[in-house]
Amino acid sequence: MLNFIYWNPVQVVFGHNSITELPKLVPDKAKILMTYGTGSIKKNGVYEQVTQALKGYNLIEFGGIEPNPFYETCLKAVDVCKREKVDFLLAVGGGSVLDATKFIAAAVPFQDGEPWNILSGKAQVTQALPLGAVMTIPATGSEMNCLAVISRAETQEKLHFGTPAVYPKFSVIDPAVTFSLPKKQLVNGIVDAFVHVLEQYVTYPVITPLQDRQAEAILHTIIESAPSVLADRMDYNARANFVWCATQALNGHLSCGVVPDFSTHMIGHELTAFFGLDHAQTLAIVLFGVWQHQIHNKAAKLAQYAERVWGITSGSDLEKAELAIEKTEDFFNAIGMATRLRDYNIGEDGIDKVVKRFIERNITLGENKNITAKEVKEILSSRL
Ligand code: NZQ
Ligand code: ZN
Repeated sequence: MLNFIYWNPVQVVFGHNSITELPKLVPDKAKILMTYGTGSIKKNGVYEQVTQALKGYNLIEFGGIEPNPFYETCLKAVDVCKREKVDFLLAVGGGSVLDATKFIAAAVPFQDGEPWNILSGKAQVTQALPLGAVMTIPATGSEMNCLAVISRAETQEKLHFGTPAVYPKFSVIDPAVTFSLPKKQLVNGIVDAFVHVLEQYVTYPVITPLQDRQAEAILHTIIESAPSVLADRMDYNARANFVWCATQALNGHLSCGVVPDFSTHMIGHELTAFFGLDHAQTLAIVLFGVWQHQIHNKAAKLAQYAERVWGITSGSDLEKAELAIEKTEDFFNAIGMATRLRDYNIGEDGIDKVVKRFIERNITLGENKNITAKEVKEILSSRL
């Protein structure tokens, strides 16, 4: 097991009607900016629940944050915060609204050049406005981590940053508010959470039996709850358990002491940046390319995953690994997630665009740091 430091200060307020707890959570005298997306909270009653709970508070609004939130939109909210002297941010929505809000929180006090420097890595964030969240979609884990991913329309980039300064002070998670999600977003959420776990698990063994079993527990629970989550849209318990899986999948817990490999995410972000695919759609394409390409390096953990999650007990490690890859892709397809570039009309030209970016950035990915632009091309070419 590797050394690690684990600190997660997010107060999670979980369960039915938990939005009514907001008055106990937001600071009394704060000027609050409530941020939200493109309209879902006005249709499913969440807007009313939040504004009702915070009646009498000094609350102003910033709506219109789009999925895969744009830097350009965030800057408008930064102006509002400065002009209105906002001192607390309340994100009400999915990962996109929360990520945008984390970025806004960091950008308001930022003084080290243009705020894009926060994302390009040119500057470090040391402070941010405090923020809280009302989470409406189980997928990203953003409600319990200090990461945010922001897109820039002008340059077709999608970059992330992370700093303890943007941990939400609290996250209110009412699984019932996710009943209004369309099936496509539920499928996205299942795939995103599943891949988050896999990327902290399918690398090489460093003797972490507890973390491995925690990862397997989340994978099992997602597989078990997926049919009820997708079929019976009012099954509260199935929904609640899945929602908690998604939060646990990327709250830093599974990463303790293990070697992660987030190359699927890093390559996937470029597919969103250039072609506008949903985040989870990109993961479902790239994951199997990364696994096949790195199958010899990942064979031991893939074989363990095959045995413990899919019940594949015969054959060599490599044979088990191959079957586990197949089973996982079948699972994604069975819940309605496409796994090929051609499903989105992306061909060789599209791959070249992504590869060019990896050449320019000159970064290496993977737990063995052996995925360069050349390997990215091989991985994506195998997913046409
Ligand atoms: O625009 P609104 O009105 O919010 O509608 C959204 C959006 O259209 C809708 N929605 C959200 N909750 C709903 C709802 N519709 C009906 N009922 C509800 N209860 O769903 C659509 C998608 O929302 P979005 O927030 O974009 O989805 P998600 O939570 O999957 O977030 C995706 C973003 O998070 C980033 C992704 O890259 C992407 O930009 N990620 C953030 C991470 C993090 N901070 O740790 C990690 C992830 O790997 C991921 O990269
Ligand atoms: Zn993700």
